[in-house]
Amino acid sequence: MPFSLKGKVVVITGAAGGIGSETARVCAGLGATLILVDVRSPHEIADELRGTGASVQTAAFDVRDRKACEDFLGQVPRLDVIVANAGYCPWDDWNDPEWDDVFHETVDINALGVVNVLRPAFEKMTQQRAGRMVLVSSVAGRMGGLKASPHYVIAKGGVNALVKWLARKGAPYGVTVNAVAPGATATNMVRNQVFDEQAIPLGRMATPREIALPIAFLCSDAASYICGTILDVNGGVYMN
Ligand SMILES: NC(=O)c1ccc[n+]([C@@H]2O[C@H](COP(=O)([O-])OP(=O)(O)OC[C@H]3O[C@@H](n4cnc5c(N)ncnc54)[C@H](O)[C@@H]3O)[C@@H](O)[C@H]2O)c1
Repeated sequence: MPFSLKGKVVVITGAAGGIGSETARVCAGLGATLILVDVRSPHEIADELRGTGASVQTAAFDVRDRKACEDFLGQVPRLDVIVANAGYCPWDDWNDPEWDDVFHETVDINALGVVNVLRPAFEKMTQQRAGRMVLVSSVAGRMGGLKASPHYVIAKGGVNALVKWLARKGAPYGVTVNAVAPGATATNMVRNQVFDEQAIPLGRMATPREIALPIAFLCSDAASYICGTILDVNGGVYMN
């Protein structure tokens, strides 16, 4: 069963959010043992999945806190898969006087936060000589997005570049590193935002499940020879 995650320990950051919680549902359905992380405990999705018989632990910390990330990953006994999904997308204008502060916050969460969780995960996986890392990037980092601000575009472009760097570093150890780059997806992140769905060839935004399924694929043994790829899941907005 190459798509199965049975027996795999899967860490998902941003697990309280739309894409993270749906990824948790899909991975639980594929048999994963889950460790769900968010800035506040993702207890609602954890309770829901425990109710279906899944094995789920939770942790609450800010991915900007390097020590918290290292302490957390240091005490995880085994780690087969990590999904670096936590993210933040402000919709401000770069002319705003506070924009520089928001720039740092956005890059800290979306780029440095990813490094903070992947660095200790990488250490563990290279020692195990096996592992899968799946980063959640964005179409914004591929082609500028439909309406994203430049701090988010810069951060997600950095995530796409990091995939290549880390994939080369991990491959000799059997650690694969890939990303899913979603287009506009119906979660809290885009609540109150209006997208021109005519600009999307498939004519609509994605559901969180349509992003979670490709993430779960990259987590599975079915993706064993995929290394350093950014999988575009955007309804045709950007065709690589
Ligand atoms: N929704 C979209 O249209 C869309 C499009 C492209 C990419 N993405 C990316 O998908 C990922 C998931 O986003 P979503 O749409 O589910 O949004 P969401 O807002 O529903 O979920 C994001 C989650 O990340 C968590 N988070 C934010 N900052 C954190 C921090 N500092 N430490 C720990 N956790 C933190 C939030 O608490 C939240 O639960 C993000 O990386 C986002 O950039 C989303």
